[in-house]
This record gives sequence, C-alpha cells and structure tokens, in this order.
Amino acid sequence: MAKIKWEQTEKQKEAWAYLADDVTTEIVFGGGAGGAKSFLGCAWIIKMAITYKGTRWLIGRKKLKRLKETTLKTFFEVCHKWGLKQGVHFTYNAQDGLIKFINKSEVLLADLAHQPSDPNYDELGSLELTGAFIDEVNQITFKAWEVIKSRIRFKLDEYGLIPKLLGTCNPSKGWVYTYFYKPFKDGILERGKAFIRALAKDNPFISKHYIAQLKAIKDKNTRERLLNGNWEYDDDPACLFDLDVIQDQFKQKVNDKRDRWLTGDVSRKGRDNMPVGLWEGLQLVKVFIIPYEIRSSTLESAKYIKKLAQKYKVRTSHIILDEDGVGGGVVDNIKGCIGFINGSSPVLTKQDELRKKRGEFYENYGNLKTQCYFKLAEVMEAGELGVDEEAFDSKAKDEYIEELGQIKQRDVDKDGKIYLVGKDKIKENIGRSPDYADMVMMRMYSLVKPKRVLDIITLE
Ligand SMILES: Nc1ncnc2c1ncn2[C@@H]1O[C@H](COP(=O)(O)OP(=O)(O)OP(=O)(O)O)[C@@H](O)[C@H]1O
Ligand SMILES: [Mg+2]
Repeated sequence: MAKIKWEQTEKQKEAWAYLADDVTTEIVFGGGAGGAKSFLGCAWIIKMAITYKGTRWLIGRKKLKRLKETTLKTFFEVCHKWGLKQGVHFTYNAQDGLIKFINKSEVLLADLAHQPSDPNYDELGSLELTGAFIDEVNQITFKAWEVIKSRIRFKLDEYGLIPKLLGTCNPSKGWVYTYFYKPFKDGILERGKAFIRALAKDNPFISKHYIAQLKAIKDKNTRERLLNGNWEYDDDPACLFDLDVIQDQFKQKVNDKRDRWLTGDVSRKGRDNMPVGLWEGLQLVKVFIIPYEIRSSTLESAKYIKKLAQKYKVRTSHIILDEDGVGGGVVDNIKGCIGFINGSSPVLTKQDELRKKRGEFYENYGNLKTQCYFKLAEVMEAGELGVDEEAFDSKAKDEYIEELGQIKQRDVDKDGKIYLVGKDKIKENIGRSPDYADMVMMRMYSLVKPKRVLDIITLE
C-alpha cells in the first residue's frame, strides 16, 4: 500500500506520538467541539488496519445509530482523502456494521450503550481486538471502557504492538474527568495513560462558521465546555450541590466536641468501599475505611465500628448505619444503633402531617434518602456543615466531591413525589456508587427525625 501523507494538526501530532509509542495504552483526546477528534480516531484505525494485515479493530460509540451518522462519515472522509475506495480497497456491510479491507483487516462498528440485561458487557466478552477507538467516550460507562481494554490482544505479539485504546470526548463531569482530566491537570496522570487537550481553535481545518456557531451558544455552561474546553462547567440545574457550596464545606469549622456521631455506608458485602465517618456535631473530622479483610464479615465489621465508638466516645444511639439489604447485617450486631433504610418513608413533621391531611403543599419526598440529601444541601448551603481538610485522603476527597456532583433530582414523579437520580445511573456515570456522599448524607437523619417532645406537667 502506498505511503500515506497527511497533514496533522499540532494536537493530532501529539496524540499520534502516544498512539505509536511503546508505553501508552490509554489515550484520551479532546476537550472541546470541533477539535479534530473523530478525524484523529478514524485516521489512526485506518492507518493501523491497512498497515497490519489481518488485524481487527473496533470503533465504538454509545449508540450505533449516531456512530453511523457521524463518526462513520468521518471514516469515509478520511478514506476518500487517502485514495481508499469502497469496493476496491474495502467493503462496508451496513447490516453487520463491518468494514473489511483487502488485506483482510476488519473494523467493527459497535454499540456500547449500557444494557440492563448485559451489565457486564458479556456480549463483548468473546471479542479479540488489535485496538479500539471510542468516540464521545464520556457517554459510555467506565465498565465498558475497562471491558474493551481487556479485549485488546489480537495479533499484538505477531506485529510487536502493545494494546492501545483511544477515546475522544468533550468536557463532562463523569469518569473521564476523574481518571484522565483531573490527574492530567494536577500533573499526576500515571505512565501508560495520556490526555491531550484539543479545541476547535487548535484545528486549522475547521470552517470558520463552526467556531462562530460555538461562540454564539447562549448557554454559558455549554459554551464554556464546547468552545473553551472548560471541564468545570458541567452545571446541571438538577444538581443538588453547587460547586462552590461543595468547595466551601472544607473551609467550615463547626465542631461540637460533645456531640459525636459515627455514620457509615456498610450494608452490603464485597463492596469496593466501606467508609465510616466520625463527626463532632456537624463537622466531619475523620473518614475510616473498613479494611478489606474485615469487610466480608458483618460481625467483624460491627466489632470494628464498636471499637471506633469506644475509642472516640460515641454513644451507640449516635451510630447511623445503612441497613439496606438482607438481615443479619452490621446493624444487627450493634444493638441500639440506628439502621438507616434508604427506601423507607420520609420523616414527616407534625406540620407536614397536617398539611398532607388538608391536601396542602409539603415537601413530598419519595423516600428517606431523598429527604436526607435535600436536608444535606440545605445545611451545606447555610454553612452549617464542615469537613476537615484531612478527614479524607486526597483521592477519596476528589471522589467525594465527584459524587456530590452526581446527586441530582429526577424528573418529578407522576404523583408529584420528589426522587433522586438512581444509583445505577450514578454508577454508569462514575463507575462506582456514591459511598462517601451517602455516608455524609446519613448524618442528616438526626436532623430530620422527629424530636422527642417531653410533656411537662406542672403541679399546682
Ligand atoms: N488532519 C486533518 N486534515 C484535514 N481535515 C481535518 C483534519 N483533522 C480534522 N479535520 C477536519 O476538521 C473538521 C472537524 O474535525 P472532527 O469532525 O474530527 O472534529 P470533532 O472534534 O470530532 O468534532 P465534533 O465535536 O463536532 O464531534 C472536519 O471537517 C474534519 O474533516
Ligand atoms: Mg466528532
């Protein structure tokens, strides 16, 4: 095959170097609209497919339909530019979503949407790939990225290649932010991973109308993201916690040393994380992670928490633990602690009960967890909650911040009840459950639960 000459943007050159080295296996390219992302991905796949005969490549996107409407067009554009003709140098079978080159290399077009019926992407499980390019990678789950990564091995040794997975995307507050953008920004992105920021203004091939269109976007957040590649502007009106409120909690000092609490999201076995928070009033002073060896035993986990309570002089009735899941949990082994049930009914005040009876407006939360998250937002906004700077280690702190950004109100239910976006959705976005945020949210139980009213009888 003839040698291909093509002019690259400076950013594409930078990415190309990572795509060709012997070290980097995961590359994310992007950060703004029109940054020449799809072109780079398609050019790389085509170049590799035609250089290494009999290899197998994947181009994926959340929706195959969108992939065919957009990315595939770019694919054919690159082929055309490079003098590769359909029917001569390659064939395309739309039905199977398969492109075959005359050298027997193949490019598979894949739908990577999360299917509830196939949460572990087993369907991709039998694939063997030489490499893959995922367009708009922020729209797929972290799990899908991991599964594809694990599939890259086909003919690598034969050609002396190493696995390479390329993703392109625009800024968003999902897992790409946590695993690529943030470490890149902080200068701590591990060896083997690369992030290249490319904006429309870095792309000399883009039409000037395109940039004018980006500049004309009315919504500031969207404009900041797409034109200026600003990753911090993913404000969603449904978010319960504003970024500045989230940041400010680390500056507050509201310790009340006589009012100590422990809260923890410890209900299910075999989880990644089981954090337990120690509080002085509404000040979170320390987050303990139950060690891995202990986590699988509810009895041992209970002992661990009891020891913490002893050491920090926390009364048993001031221990709040997630009680979801089957019985025999940690809660059962700590007699007298509060079992928090996410899905249980919200706590209504006497006034709310009355309003409800009279058919008047009241905050109609779908469940206790939703109520506590709304309370948390209110308390944080009022500056009444603080988190010590050293309470979390730095990775956990970033994760906690990221989790709060994921707590959003769901569309109002038919019967007017208020719910949050489900855990499944959050898992899809950030690749894990919001364990730290849930732990903090549970502290609110003591604020929403009805206060015991003492009847004071005065004797004449
Ligand atoms: N190396 C190149 N040589 C010639 N044209 C290029 C090159 N790179 C990108 N372009 C052109 O720049 C334009 C934008 O590129 P591309 O579609 O890859 O950007 P994108 O970042 O994927 O955009 P979007 O955010 O809209 O998905 C396209 O018209 C594409 O053909
Ligand atoms: Mg594109």
